[in-house]
Amino acid sequence: MTSTSRELLSSAAEELELAGCPSPRVDAEWLLAHALGVTRTELYADGDHPLTVARRQRFGELMARRAQREPLAYVLGEWGFRRLTLRVDSRVLIPRPETESLVERCLALLDGLPEPCVLDIGVGSGAIALAIADEHPGARVVATDSSPGALAVADENRRRTALTGRVELVSGELFAGLEGPFDLVVSNPPYVSPEDFDTLEPEVSLFEPREAIVGVGVGAEIAGAARAVLAPGGWLLLECGDGQAADLAAEFERLGYGDVVRTRDLADRERVVEGRWA
Ligand SMILES: C[S@@+](CC[C@H](N)C(=O)[O-])C[C@H]1O[C@@H](n2cnc3c(N)ncnc32)[C@H](O)[C@@H]1O
Repeated sequence: MTSTSRELLSSAAEELELAGCPSPRVDAEWLLAHALGVTRTELYADGDHPLTVARRQRFGELMARRAQREPLAYVLGEWGFRRLTLRVDSRVLIPRPETESLVERCLALLDGLPEPCVLDIGVGSGAIALAIADEHPGARVVATDSSPGALAVADENRRRTALTGRVELVSGELFAGLEGPFDLVVSNPPYVSPEDFDTLEPEVSLFEPREAIVGVGVGAEIAGAARAVLAPGGWLLLECGDGQAADLAAEFERLGYGDVVRTRDLADRERVVEGRWA
């Protein structure tokens, strides 16, 4: 019988590989560290630590979920985004690395504004809204979502990160009931076509909320409506899918935005379009 965490890790990685998980060894390490209540670094430092029956059972439960291709973030129940660790479950999209690039651009444009008003459309877990409030100490953020489940998770994360006083949550469709002026409007809207959704990996298509992912033309709709709430000289920043940035940038220009810029993410793909409402 397997007796130490090191031995258990090898067999777990094999099991996840057989299940088709793309990063079986890393996932097994995360899950075992979680079951043991230690960090991955501590797991390495103490690789021959014997496991109690309770911990082994806990690990088995986590492994069973991951082997069904449930995303690692949902199994762990939390996920890192910039400086924050956010609670995540199947009610919200798991924050993605490319969205960190979107936040990076927002912070660059807000630099120098002492108390900017920011609007985040489609708050999800709260990733964008909370990261902006966390990294710009003067920013006040209004964040909306049409999903009650997402708003509940965002609220939990707002309290977890002690940013409740700086981030206001609003329930509703896109801009419904919102009045500006905002210095910056940001959104990571649903932008995957219905045809593409079914071709995504099972972690996404079977577990993440479809309404957070599938959408056609939502970015353009936001770009049109944002003009009514942006302060003169205010910025609009939208994340988009790989291959969509050129069309979205053209739409920004058609709608009258100036200083339109496309930004690449760390994988060198254009994923963010920004423009200024003059
Ligand atoms: C791609 S997720 C982004 C979540 C989060 N901002 C992030 O970047 O991780 C899109 C979010 O928009 C919300 N949403 C979709 N359609 C919406 C609409 N018409 N009005 C308001 N929110 C919407 C979804 O519920 C989801 O939480």
